[in-house]
Amino acid sequence: MNPKRELFATSEYYSGGGQVREAVGGTDIEISASLTVTMRVSITKDVFSPGNSALRDVYQPRGRCVAVLDAVVDRHYGAALRAYFSYHGIELIAMVCPAAEPDKTLRTAEAILEFLGVNNCNVARDEPILVVGGGVISDTAGLAAALLHRRTPYVMLATSVVAAVDAGPSPRTCVNGDQFKNSIGAYHPPVLTLVDSGLFATLESRHIRHGMAEIVKMAAVDELRLFELLEEHGERLLATKFGSVGHDEELRKVGDEVLHRSLLSYLRHEGTNAFEIYQDRPHAYGHTWSPGFERHAGLLHGHAVAIDMALSTTLAELVGWLPGPDRERILALSRRLGLAVYDPILESSEILLAGQEAMRSKRGGRALWAPVPRGQVGAVGYLEEVPAELLAEAVRRNRLHAEGLPGGGRGVDAFLDAKPIH
Ligand SMILES: NC(=O)c1ccc[n+]([C@@H]2O[C@H](COP(=O)([O-])OP(=O)(O)OC[C@H]3O[C@@H](n4cnc5c(N)ncnc54)[C@H](O)[C@@H]3O)[C@@H](O)[C@H]2O)c1
Repeated sequence: MNPKRELFATSEYYSGGGQVREAVGGTDIEISASLTVTMRVSITKDVFSPGNSALRDVYQPRGRCVAVLDAVVDRHYGAALRAYFSYHGIELIAMVCPAAEPDKTLRTAEAILEFLGVNNCNVARDEPILVVGGGVISDTAGLAAALLHRRTPYVMLATSVVAAVDAGPSPRTCVNGDQFKNSIGAYHPPVLTLVDSGLFATLESRHIRHGMAEIVKMAAVDELRLFELLEEHGERLLATKFGSVGHDEELRKVGDEVLHRSLLSYLRHEGTNAFEIYQDRPHAYGHTWSPGFERHAGLLHGHAVAIDMALSTTLAELVGWLPGPDRERILALSRRLGLAVYDPILESSEILLAGQEAMRSKRGGRALWAPVPRGQVGAVGYLEEVPAELLAEAVRRNRLHAEGLPGGGRGVDAFLDAKPIH
């Protein structure tokens, strides 16, 4: 037996091991290797106040913090962030980066890499980069971190609702490719995600609303209590930006409970499946057809997800998995939050079916694995196949449903500023 060799870890956040075996009687060698990532997600308050130690604890031992900041967030919080690091005597080297959806490109990831790399900050492979902003910068700078030295840790300070409950702690870093939204990427979760709902005060209402679609998603297929909280408080949370406007402490507590429950639901499934070893992911609800039409329709991500959720929910009813009143309950919550439940893009069967086929092959090609509510609100099942006629029938039903709604069920402020691609 070999004496145990001393190992010099490359980073405090990663560990792993493996085995090597010579195949009996042959020339082949079999290898298995594993990677364990240690992560933490923390809901905090007043993250830039000098008394909050969350960022100080990570960066003071290093004496510096290399950060990538969303340009809009920098306008609102850059001064507070700089004052925080200065107060604690930590050098801050920051790149301010435009981070609207059209900036979610390999070119932006490359610019970030240049900033982090040898010509600029010379970030070491164990030095956690700080990323501050919403889902666009978390995806793009997260991908740059995945590429730098092949894997460099990063801390995500989530400033939008989407980033707080989903994109922030997500292991799926990415930029948009031509075929699909988010199709170029790497599995690289942040080692620490910080969520401070006080920062939502400056977020535009339309971004709060579309972020809530991701919470409805988790609630409808995974957590009935979360769904009930949204039914009870969702509209007030939307109106007060999670209690951050008007300093309503009671509502802020409810908001933080909603964020906590969403995160727990997300991490129970995605945290332990960080490298997407399993395809049956409840949180892919709303994400089967939407990646194929989101950019064509020029929709904000959350509205595209909400339209897909409505479609998936109707499919669940059509195959006998969900009672009619439960379908109506899910659609009603989306409507009350001003989320879209329908868009005429669904009538373009070419786009819809091409998206479905692309998703099928992305999910391994053996089945579609479309998550839908099953049995009741808060539980999930997976549709392995959805024939074209069934899909068309679900579209027809949702169109009928939408015809009676204000704006044809298209939601409030559902579109990106950028023009749709047709
Ligand atoms: N990787 C994943 O698993 C995953 C999951 C869900 C969504 N996403 C991605 O996330 C993106 C959507 O996230 P998003 O809504 O955060 O978009 P975003 O990053 O574009 O943020 C929305 C807007 O709000 C601004 N902003 C952010 N925080 C702010 C604050 N506190 N105050 C004022 N303005 C602020 C941003 O600059 C931007 O203009 C999409 O690209 C989507 O694909 C990724």
